[in-house]
Amino acid sequence: MSVITRKTLPFSGQKPGTSGLRKKVTVFQQANYLENFVQSIFDSLEGFAGKTLVLGGDGRFFNREAIQVILRMASANGFGRVLVGQGGILSTPAVSCIIRKHKAFGGIILSASHNPGGPKDDFGIKYNISAGGPAPEKVTEAIYAKSQVISEYRTLDDERPVDIDRLGTIDLGGMTVEVIDPVADYAELMGKLFDFAAIRDLFSSGFRIRFDAMHAVTGPYAKTILEGLLGAVPGSVVHGIPLPDFGGGHPDPNLVHAHDLVAALAAPDAPDMGAASDGDGDRNMIIGRGFYVTPSDSLAVLAANATLAPGYAKGLAGIARSMPTSQAADRVAEALGVPAYETPTGWKFFGNLLDAGRATLCGEESFGTGSNHVREKDGLWAVLLWLNILAKRRQSVEAIVREHWTRFGRNFYSRHDYEGLDSKAAEGVMAHLRQRLPTLAGSQLGGHQVATADDFAYTDPVDGSVSTQQGIRILFSDGSRIVYRLSGTGTEGATLRVYIERFEADPAGHARDTQETLGDLISIARDVAEIVPRTGRDAPTVIT
Ligand code: G6P
Ligand code: ZN
Repeated sequence: MSVITRKTLPFSGQKPGTSGLRKKVTVFQQANYLENFVQSIFDSLEGFAGKTLVLGGDGRFFNREAIQVILRMASANGFGRVLVGQGGILSTPAVSCIIRKHKAFGGIILSASHNPGGPKDDFGIKYNISAGGPAPEKVTEAIYAKSQVISEYRTLDDERPVDIDRLGTIDLGGMTVEVIDPVADYAELMGKLFDFAAIRDLFSSGFRIRFDAMHAVTGPYAKTILEGLLGAVPGSVVHGIPLPDFGGGHPDPNLVHAHDLVAALAAPDAPDMGAASDGDGDRNMIIGRGFYVTPSDSLAVLAANATLAPGYAKGLAGIARSMPTSQAADRVAEALGVPAYETPTGWKFFGNLLDAGRATLCGEESFGTGSNHVREKDGLWAVLLWLNILAKRRQSVEAIVREHWTRFGRNFYSRHDYEGLDSKAAEGVMAHLRQRLPTLAGSQLGGHQVATADDFAYTDPVDGSVSTQQGIRILFSDGSRIVYRLSGTGTEGATLRVYIERFEADPAGHARDTQETLGDLISIARDVAEIVPRTGRDAPTVIT
């Protein structure tokens, strides 16, 4: 077996987005497309000769083929060892955990997260650095720059596939391929963070969970941990087998795509808790019996109760949330006397705060929650922290959230998405808002006083780097907010996201319906942005 160099030509548009390079499978299937990008990753890194790379994906269509290509290229480029999940499976948080535990040089994750999979759907590839988190922008920019001038890549002349289904060690052109149990290291870490004995007691007292793995990567993790180690009744994990097309579903844990779960939790014989995770296992949704917990509230509740889990018993250093996430977590930070950080959308912005020990818990409205245990958000981790809290408090999910609101007040919150917009029209909305900014501050909108209005910019407190144009914010003097931004993760057209929030301190008002409570702010948001005339849409496509 020998190393060969193949000539190639650049593909335009190999630009990693919020979370790696995501394109249709058919794009990735073009000759040299994946190879070019992988070589561009390797060409942007230094000092990996003889070191370890972690490799795995969410099992979607093209996962196995991509793994074979990357194994050959890793060998040809001089890596010493690749730890690959059995069957090519590794969840995103597990990759982060394994990189850190085994002190790997970095990792490659094959996933398009919550986007559908299959021959006509999405594939993705992302590089994570030795700290375990997504590559920072300077690395992804370097990868893109290399991809635009690439002329050759290195691989092996022998294309016989490596057996990635059997645990063990294989030599591939002088590099060691170690096929590992995808779950073991991750499960061990969870066992250190959470009171497994208390959770086992909870399950043995009759508590029931329904965990919907959506035929994506978390099935094996949830089965081993929830049913195996913690004693949840067999069958608690549903849709637990990862499938290349996720069983035809859309592996995104939200009220729209996890409707099965929502319905099961609303049924008369509903279990005590419902949870779901996405394609690659980093997102989560939590529901009680007939009671949906918004991701923003979930972060706040987890932060307020984190010390009930052994891994967080010493308290939190700080709490970080992305800007569009509701301000509920800030109130908890204030009560705990720890700093609250507001970052741009994208998990990577939490990396420095976590590395510097400034934040312990982080969360985003987009169903992401996590902590300093890894450098990715972590769906199953959030479920386990909830279980740990439930095991200690022995109250229902709903009771815990309602008590939380009584203590801290309730941040009513909703996100309205306008998907599949013409990109020009969507950019037009943002440009129009930017232009209006100077006149908005101090004005009255539908009887609400605007305190400030800006285009969110973030200066990283650790490295001083500045990120601008991260979303338009209209902040009202009563604490309400309207936020607008364009999605950075879509693969078709543009998606405008409008985030609406209103604070209610009085418990008497907490039972009201969210859309109704936010009604006047919702119309203000639509009018100020001229959404109807500019996009031709008179209603959002998804409301969460
Ligand atoms: C990915 C990132 C998240 C981010 C989300 C935003 O899932 O990992 O950190 O919050 O994208 O998606 P959007 O479509 O709103 O840009
Ligand atoms: Zn994901």
